[in-house]
Amino acid sequence: MYNVKKIKEDLYWVGANDRRLALFESAYPVPSGISYNSYLLLDEKTVLLDTVDKAVNHQFMENIAHVLKGRELDYLVINHMEPDHCAEIQTIVEKYKNIKIVCNAKSKQMIGQFFEFELPDDRWHIVKEGDNLNVGKHNLSFVFAPMVHWPEVMVTYDAADKILFSADAFGTFGAVDGNIFADEVDFEHRYMDEARRYYTNIVGKYGVQVQNLLKKAANLDIEMICPLHGYVWRKDLNIFIDKYQKWSTYTPEINSVLIAYSSVYGGTQNAAEILGGKLAEQGIKDIKIYDVSTIHPSYIISDAFKYSHLVFASTTYNMGIFVSMENLLNDITAHNLQNRKVAVIHNGSWAPVCGNLITDVVSKWKNTEIFENKIQLTSTVKQSQNEELEILAKEIAKTI
Ligand code: FEO
Repeated sequence: MYNVKKIKEDLYWVGANDRRLALFESAYPVPSGISYNSYLLLDEKTVLLDTVDKAVNHQFMENIAHVLKGRELDYLVINHMEPDHCAEIQTIVEKYKNIKIVCNAKSKQMIGQFFEFELPDDRWHIVKEGDNLNVGKHNLSFVFAPMVHWPEVMVTYDAADKILFSADAFGTFGAVDGNIFADEVDFEHRYMDEARRYYTNIVGKYGVQVQNLLKKAANLDIEMICPLHGYVWRKDLNIFIDKYQKWSTYTPEINSVLIAYSSVYGGTQNAAEILGGKLAEQGIKDIKIYDVSTIHPSYIISDAFKYSHLVFASTTYNMGIFVSMENLLNDITAHNLQNRKVAVIHNGSWAPVCGNLITDVVSKWKNTEIFENKIQLTSTVKQSQNEELEILAKEIAKTI
């Protein structure tokens, strides 16, 4: 049975939720599911904006047929060629025999990589930056957004309804639960953490490119944002745009401390917990402590983008950094995090060496300061280290 949502007088959400997916992109847990958004515009011409993941094919095709009510589908706009949005292109092309694909040259090339169908030249409408497509009352224009999140990405602006179809930008993890508009749910408390986790892990590396898109979008009169995942924004857009400004410039959202530790028999955890308590005694609020062996790195990366100060506490393992901590640090490096203050605690019962290795990794992060006071444990926290932790807590607190 169809399940569509009306977005505007002549615009419908025809997407679907996947609530059974364990790992989005085979990498990120999505315990609340994920939505694949697609939009169908009914004007003199009918326009489908992006498709969906193959996991929700049935729902998607039913939704389109219901909204079209027997009309032809005239255009398929491809904003992004990642398979969570492009998987059903061939199905659409085969079902709607006169459809024209509207995409840029890079997307056309990628369509050739993913699919084997052939279309005559007059079924392709290849667009360049700033091109327009008039479909009746609505005039669509195309704004290129390379690397947000793939090189071919563009966003589509509908001047009639002042809508930005923003591709992956402004998306969030989590299915859409009945409501479709962000102002109909408690987005701040239920979804903002997942929006941050989505942004930081998916496009966090590409802050410069996101900044470029935000600058282009600032020249458009936007009243609604329709992303490819999660809720549609039609009120208080600045709340989300401000978050994107911070995330894409690697600006911390709060002045506080995230402590990430790896611990085999509890000594390093003990140091992390003691430091957390001593930071609290210094008046620091909202301290966060993560065991990197039990929490998926995507959650820690997300909070690393949120917090101003990061403490990495790790045991030495095979003369290196403990595996889960090494994985986290490499992941953070890959996501281009910068502008942070970092402290290091390291442990080793006979050869505590991972402190310098952690420092080597962190020293590559742009505009990031490392506290000189590196605390070394040799198995468990002794009174002398307890005092060192007190000193470190005070040094950190002075910079907050
Ligand atoms: Fe939601 Fe880059 O795909």
